Amino acid sequence: MINLGGGVISDLGGFIAATYMRGIDFINIPTTLLSQVDASVGGKLGINFNELKNHVGVFLNPKKVFIDTDLLKSLPIRELKSGFAEVIKHCLVKDKNEFYRLLNTNWKNYDWNDIIKHSIKIKSSIVKKDPLENGIRKILNFGHTIGHAIESVYMSKNNYLLHGEAIAIGIICESYISYTSNSLQKNELDLITKFITKTYKPNIINKNKIKPILEAIIHDKKNINNKIKTSLIEKIGKCGYNYNINKLVINESIDYYNSCI
Ligand SMILES: NC(=O)c1ccc[n+]([C@@H]2O[C@H](COP(=O)([O-])OP(=O)(O)OC[C@H]3O[C@@H](n4cnc5c(N)ncnc54)[C@H](O)[C@@H]3O)[C@@H](O)[C@H]2O)c1
Ligand SMILES: [Zn+2]
Repeated sequence: MINLGGGVISDLGGFIAATYMRGIDFINIPTTLLSQVDASVGGKLGINFNELKNHVGVFLNPKKVFIDTDLLKSLPIRELKSGFAEVIKHCLVKDKNEFYRLLNTNWKNYDWNDIIKHSIKIKSSIVKKDPLENGIRKILNFGHTIGHAIESVYMSKNNYLLHGEAIAIGIICESYISYTSNSLQKNELDLITKFITKTYKPNIINKNKIKPILEAIIHDKKNINNKIKTSLIEKIGKCGYNYNINKLVINESIDYYNSCI
C-alpha cells in the first residue's frame, strides 16, 4: 500500500494496512510539512473514535518513507505553519541550539530540507530508544496533552483548528506549566510564547470551551490510574515525562495563553 498525502493519510492508510488481513506492507510518501517531519515516521497509526483523537490505533513502521520537499510548494501557508509546530516541539524537547537558530532566522530564509532532516533525526533517535512509548518517547507528546484536547474541541466545521495550530497553543500552555510546576525559567517561557504568538494567528480559547477541553484531557491515553500525566520541559532542549498535573493548573495555563494574545 502506498500512502501519498498528509498525516491524515499516513495515520489512516497505515492503520488500514496494519489491520487489513492482519497486516500488509506499506510505504509513506508524505506531502505536508507535518507528515514529513512527524506523522510519517515512528509507526504510530490510528483513527479518531467517539470524537477523541487517535483513540483506536496500532504501532507499525512503514517499509520506506520517501520525502520530496518540492511537494511543499503547493502547500497553503496555514498548513506549512501547522507542520512547523512539530518542528518547534522537536527543538524544545531535544535541541536548544536549533530552537534559537529558528527563533533568530526570518521565516522566508528557512531551509526546509535542513529543517526536515533535523526534525526526523530527533524523532527517529527517540523512537529507536522506545518504539512502543513506554518511557522516553513520551517527550514527543510535549504540547499534546492540552493541544490534542483543544484540537478535539475545535473540530467543528466552521471553527476548526489544524493539528499544529492546536499543538502550538498546547505548547504555550504546557510551557507555562513547565514554568510553574517544573524548572523552566521565565525568560525561556517568554521566548517560547513570543515565538509561537508571532508565528501563528492565535485564537482566544473561550470560557465555554474549558469544560469540554478538561473532559477530553481526562480521556487522554497517556493518563495512568485516572491521574493526568504529561511531559514537561525543564529548560529549552530538555524534556521529562509522566508529570502529574491537575485541572487547576491546566485552567491557569489556558488563562495565561489567553492573556498573551
Ligand atoms: N502518527 C503520528 O505520529 C502523527 C504525528 C503528528 C501528527 N499526526 C496526525 O497528522 C494529522 C495532520 O496531518 P497534516 O497536517 O498533514 O494534515 P492533512 O493530512 O489533513 O493535510 C492537510 C491538507 O493539505 C492537503 N495537502 C496535502 N499535501 C498537499 C500538498 N503537497 N499541496 C497542497 N495541499 C496538500 C490535504 O489534502 C489536506 O487538505 C493529524 O490528524 C495528526 O493527529 C500523526
Ligand atoms: Zn502532533
